[in-house]
Amino acid sequence: MRSRKKMIAGNWKMNMTAEGALALIPAIAAGDAADVLICPPFTLLHLAAQEAARAGVLLGAQDVSRYPMGAHTGDISAEQLRDAGCQWVILGHSERRIDHDESSAEVCHKAEAAIKAGLQIIICVGETLRERELDQQNVVVEKQVLDSMPDNADARNCVFAYEPVWAIGTGQTATAEQAQAMHKFIRSVIADELTPQAADYMRILYGGSMKPDNAAELLGQPDIDGGLIGGAALKADQFNAIIAAVK
Ligand code: PGA
Repeated sequence: MRSRKKMIAGNWKMNMTAEGALALIPAIAAGDAADVLICPPFTLLHLAAQEAARAGVLLGAQDVSRYPMGAHTGDISAEQLRDAGCQWVILGHSERRIDHDESSAEVCHKAEAAIKAGLQIIICVGETLRERELDQQNVVVEKQVLDSMPDNADARNCVFAYEPVWAIGTGQTATAEQAQAMHKFIRSVIADELTPQAADYMRILYGGSMKPDNAAELLGQPDIDGGLIGGAALKADQFNAIIAAVK
C-alpha cells in the first residue's frame, strides 16, 4: 500500500470574525507530518490567506458556485476563491445537502468547476442515523461517492471525507471499526470507478466529533488518511492536539 500523507482540515462553518481568526491562525502548530488546512467562512478568506501562509497552513472555502461568473447573486466562483488565496474547497457537506437541498448531481457540477479552476476538493459523504439503523449506509455512501465525483477528479485533486451525519457536532463519534470499515468500502468503490492505483493514492478523511481524545485511534486505522474537524478546529489547543496525533 502506498503511504498517503495525512490531512487535518478545519471546517470553521459559520463561526469566527476577524478578531478570532487573527488570534487562532498564528497559534496553529502545523508541522510537517500532515497537510494542515483551514476552511474559514468566505468573509475571512482574504484576511486568513496571509496568516495561513505564514503559519504553513493551507486555505480552503466551504462551498463554491458551479458557474464561472455572472448573475448569481450571493454565490462565489472558483476563480474568486483562487483570487482570495484558496487552494482547496469543501463540497457537499451534509449541512449544505440538508440546509440547501444540495444533491450529489449539484455537488458534481461544483466539483467539476472547482477542479477546472485549479482548486483541490474535499467531497463529503455520509449516511444519516436512520439509514444506518436500516443498514443502508453502504448503499447510500456508494451512491453519494459515484454521483458526486466528476470526470476530472483524480487522486491529486480530490479527497473524500466520510462524515456520518449522526456523528457531526453530536459528540457521538463513529467507532474506529465503523469508520475503518466504511473507509475501506469507499476505497473499493473508487478502485472500481477509477483504478486500483487511484484508490490507493486517494485520501479519505474521517469527520464527525473528532477530538483530541479519539483522534489517535481514528487516525491509526489503515484507511483513515486524516480528519475533517468542526468544533475542535476552533480552539488552537484542540486542533493542535489532533495534528499532533498524526504519526
Ligand atoms: P464536528 O464537525 O467535528 O463538529 O462534528 C465535523 C464537520 O462537520 O465537518
